[in-house]
Amino acid sequence: MKRTQVAIIGGGPAGMLLSHMLHLDGIDSVVIERQPRDHVLKRIRAGVLEYGTVKLMHEVGLGERMERHAHDGSWIAWENRQPFLIDTRKHTGKHMWSFGQTAITEELYRVRERDGGRVIDEAQQVTLHDLDSERPWVGFEKDGEAQRLECNYVAGCDGQHGVSRNSIPKDLLRTFERAYPFGWLGIMSETPPLKEIMYAHHSRGFALASQRNPMLSRYYIQCDLATDLAEWPDERFWEELKRRFPPDIADRIVTGPSIEKSVAPLRSFVAEPMSYGRLFLAGDAAHIVPPTGAKGLNLAVSDVFYLHRALVAQFKKSDSRYLERYSETALRRVWNAERLSWQLMRLMHVFPDDDDFTRRINLNEFDHLQASPAAQAALAEQYVGMPFEA
Ligand code: APR
Ligand code: PHB
Repeated sequence: MKRTQVAIIGGGPAGMLLSHMLHLDGIDSVVIERQPRDHVLKRIRAGVLEYGTVKLMHEVGLGERMERHAHDGSWIAWENRQPFLIDTRKHTGKHMWSFGQTAITEELYRVRERDGGRVIDEAQQVTLHDLDSERPWVGFEKDGEAQRLECNYVAGCDGQHGVSRNSIPKDLLRTFERAYPFGWLGIMSETPPLKEIMYAHHSRGFALASQRNPMLSRYYIQCDLATDLAEWPDERFWEELKRRFPPDIADRIVTGPSIEKSVAPLRSFVAEPMSYGRLFLAGDAAHIVPPTGAKGLNLAVSDVFYLHRALVAQFKKSDSRYLERYSETALRRVWNAERLSWQLMRLMHVFPDDDDFTRRINLNEFDHLQASPAAQAALAEQYVGMPFEA
């Protein structure tokens, strides 16, 4: 029989960061991950980090070894209009950073290993028990043997398809959801990216130029949900991508063979509350944002910031106030990111059933953003990330 203070379900960025931060405060945890290590380390996801995310990572000793690139914000280009910069440096004094989530996951596994952290990979049939008691426990199978891990608290960091959220009684959980009627076709290519991160609106659909490092580019185009990758050889992708950017920018895009190509569905989702008894959800387990605005990883980090603070107060000072308020506090920031990413989805994409009126409203929103420093400042403040609540 095993015991720990915090059982963490899921070894993605949320779970591993929480485990690391608890360790710095002398709180013991065990991470229980369903997938093999290789699989976890290879996942490709969004790559823009808010100022506060990078600051927190530095404060907890992460990131020195990671390659990253500071940006003054991101650009928005609109068909037949001059592009403009969401200038986070000018309006907030803060930078954004681009760097791959893959690098963050690697760094987290490296430091947990260095510090003797316990991560159980390939744990099957994970189940949560007695969450509404003072002695919750986690059941799972490892190498065909049934195991039981007792703990004081359970952190549900097992992503959108994990067991944690579904362990909350259905009548206590409320979910909010929006699916979008298109996807993003994305590629990764070992070519020098554009200097800037640039979102493009075009009557043929949205496009995005992003990056991972000086020789790794990430590009996306809005696509049909039924898109068949076989019909999208690299040449067709590059041609379509370039058509959606202003010609002078399209000319600067360096093309080359793709090393990855996939279609991502786009969804907004929130589960409330983010806690039940001694279970606390963090990251994708509780919410999904569509990728415009790149808030996914940043939200996982802000949940972990609040949850870590609450667990430290509980273990060190028997102060339960932060834990009691965890869901409410985390959800305010979650909804802020949900609103921003939804707004950017709405603004930047071509929705199949949009009428001419809606298109004009969208165009005017762009014109207003371009003309109004106040509107730009409001967008920049949210894009760079609102500060964590005291
Ligand atoms: N038991 C144990 N582990 C599980 C289970 C389960 N039943 N189900 C899922 N997991 C694991 C997954 O294999 C994954 O490694 O939980 C982990 C969840 O990690 P993520 O999906 O990366 O979620 P999170 O850590 O919240 O990170 C959020 O990732 O999806 C992106 O854009 C998102 O950047 C954001 C970040
Ligand atoms: C990415 O680099 O994958 C990315 C960047 C910005 C976004 C979304 C995704 O808004």
